Amino acid sequence: MSGTSARRPRVAVSRTGLPGDAVKRLAARFDVTDWTGTRPPTGAELAGLVQGCEGLLVLGSDRVDAALLDAAGPGLRVVALASMGYDGVDVVAATERGVVVTHTPDVLADTTADVAMALILMARRRLGASMDALRRGAWGAFRMDAFLGLDVHGATLGLIGYGRIARALARRAAGFGMRVQHHHPRRREDDQLSHWVPFDDLLRTSDVVSVHTPLTEETEGLIGTTELALMKPTATLVNTGRGGVVDEKALLAALRRGELHSAGLDVMTGEPRMSPSDPLFSEPHLVVLPHVGSATEATRAAMVELAARNLEAVLDGHPALTPLPG
Ligand code: DGY
Repeated sequence: MSGTSARRPRVAVSRTGLPGDAVKRLAARFDVTDWTGTRPPTGAELAGLVQGCEGLLVLGSDRVDAALLDAAGPGLRVVALASMGYDGVDVVAATERGVVVTHTPDVLADTTADVAMALILMARRRLGASMDALRRGAWGAFRMDAFLGLDVHGATLGLIGYGRIARALARRAAGFGMRVQHHHPRRREDDQLSHWVPFDDLLRTSDVVSVHTPLTEETEGLIGTTELALMKPTATLVNTGRGGVVDEKALLAALRRGELHSAGLDVMTGEPRMSPSDPLFSEPHLVVLPHVGSATEATRAAMVELAARNLEAVLDGHPALTPLPG
């Protein structure tokens, strides 16, 4: 025995108090520093935290760019996201530096699909506007013509993207008596739940269009004025993916002109710091949620657990469990 112990790998965690006990487990093996602030770290604060680290455990809303990777230094081996979306990561810069990036698919699919289904019901049945009216004291009498929405059963759901969350939503929609179709740009496969249709056909023939694509250069602004104009005036648009896929100005204009029945958004381009006077919040045919798709105790803990297991795997010299798709 030499009497000297090996230096433990250094790991930075971009928040404190993450759900579950995965970070505690990491701290038993690694030299873990977490961000202890009550608000998320700024880019500069995160850069200070990651210096000299071999592993980073971060959230989907953290920016992992070349500057942050360089702040960590050449020993950095893994960036483990507790998030399925990875649009905040400069994947090219990470690859150039030999850093493995991992994310958390699967574990949040059902939970996020629940929120997509809830948005469909809320927007189409005008449940958000009904609750607002009740809270304003505007419910004086039962009227046959008040708070009328559109039926969900018998409606056609069009899924843009057909990954895990979209499939989980397809299963739920079938239970609600909806017909389901989807568009995926590369995979033209049908299954028992849904059949593939061309993009424009999906927009023209769906009663509900639900967006499930990652935010990339190709999908930014995918649903804009032209696409909204193809949709039925009785249609509902739902987005639980990333705000940037939908052109919000075009959406508001379509709703105000009555060219679209309703919409439900769990994600917005300006999130998370949004003004209460944001026009999105005053449009009666729009239901907006603060990015709660994966927000259950069990799912958030499962996301942190999978991120931690990815980080451990790479630092132990094993392949990551869920690296980014190639
Ligand atoms: C995800 O995992 O991408 C969700 O949007 C939560 O960040």
